[in-house]
Amino acid sequence: MKYLAILGRLEKISLAELEAQFSDVERKKAGLATFLSTEKPDIKRFGGVLKFCEEIPGGFNELVEFLTEMPEGKITLGVSNFKRGANLRKTRVEAMKLKRILSKNGRSVRVLENKEVILSTATSHHNQLAEKKNHVEIVLTDFGNYSLIGVQNITEYAKRDQARPARDAKVGMLPPKLAQILINLCGPLEKNARVLDPFCGTGVVLQEALLHGFVPYGTDLNPRMVEYSLRNLKWFGSEVTKKTFRGVSGELIEKATVEKGDATNFKWNGKIDAVATEIFLGQPMSKPPVQIKLKEEKQRCGAILVGFLKNLSGQISSGAPVVVAVPAWLRENGEYSRLNLVDEIRELGYNVVSFRNSSQGDLLYFREGQIVAREIIVLRKK
Ligand SMILES: C[S@@+](CC[C@H](N)C(=O)[O-])C[C@H]1O[C@@H](n2cnc3c(N)ncnc32)[C@H](O)[C@@H]1O
Repeated sequence: MKYLAILGRLEKISLAELEAQFSDVERKKAGLATFLSTEKPDIKRFGGVLKFCEEIPGGFNELVEFLTEMPEGKITLGVSNFKRGANLRKTRVEAMKLKRILSKNGRSVRVLENKEVILSTATSHHNQLAEKKNHVEIVLTDFGNYSLIGVQNITEYAKRDQARPARDAKVGMLPPKLAQILINLCGPLEKNARVLDPFCGTGVVLQEALLHGFVPYGTDLNPRMVEYSLRNLKWFGSEVTKKTFRGVSGELIEKATVEKGDATNFKWNGKIDAVATEIFLGQPMSKPPVQIKLKEEKQRCGAILVGFLKNLSGQISSGAPVVVAVPAWLRENGEYSRLNLVDEIRELGYNVVSFRNSSQGDLLYFREGQIVAREIIVLRKK
């Protein structure tokens, strides 16, 4: 089945995220990609996708038929318009035309007013356009019509980010969306796959892995971080019991393991199906580092990355995915300086995965003006 993804500000990273999970990912225009999938994609498990939509095969008549056949009751209709030359007026005309025809077909319709040609994530989410049975968002494009099947749950994301009890500003917690991206970049994994985060910190990757139905395994050098991860997982479990986060099995939370270990020499227990992690990012910084400081930080973080990958290499099977977020530093000239260890990593027994729609240079995650950014490296054990 053909699907459409509307992507957020990290478009190139999101395209890689889609490519790792689905087939025939095709970038249609800025922020828009189609792909094929045998299963309905679950928006909860994606970090970079704002909306997923399903194709309504055929043309305008099939679109009208699709809307007319919606479950009984008044229809709430939102329209997003990605057509060439789309503007607010044309989008309203399209929406009113649909309303008129549907009224003739005996359906009463409330049209949501567009503030932009594309309905915002907040509008689609708060109006439950993907959830309520007679609420709908139609996405018009030059390559067909689509209907919304999932919109990023900004309320849950905010809660999973901000309501965790054990936090540490110095460690720089990973945004849950980026954790989702790292996990998805591992490619499709079996249910109950055991996912290791050897620099688990406060446990964001561990928590997000549970939403995929994976068993999380976290280790960290710092015993305080081990305690933080455990405390956060316990909190997450209690929220699952309260049904704040749906679709997570309490059994998986029981199976989660967190222990103290130095990633450069630790012997991990049991099988490891995939690794998704954010390594030590060096010192937090409020301005670009001077040359000598940059060199020191690169050496320190680079040595940890190489030491970890060497240690891991003998402990995972051939083909196992290893996705690592590593630091990159903003310079005075506005460019990011990277670790540039990709060649060395190859010699350690890993292949670097490349993507059709994004280059290694595109896999940089940062907020405007942020000094320490994260570069994502996607590896597979040879
Ligand atoms: C950038 S933080 C990871 C934050 C984490 N993703 C989170 O969401 O909270 C890096 C973590 O690596 C840990 N660390 C540093 N060196 C380590 C090593 N050699 N082995 C294992 N953990 C290490 C630190 O204690 C810290 O918790």
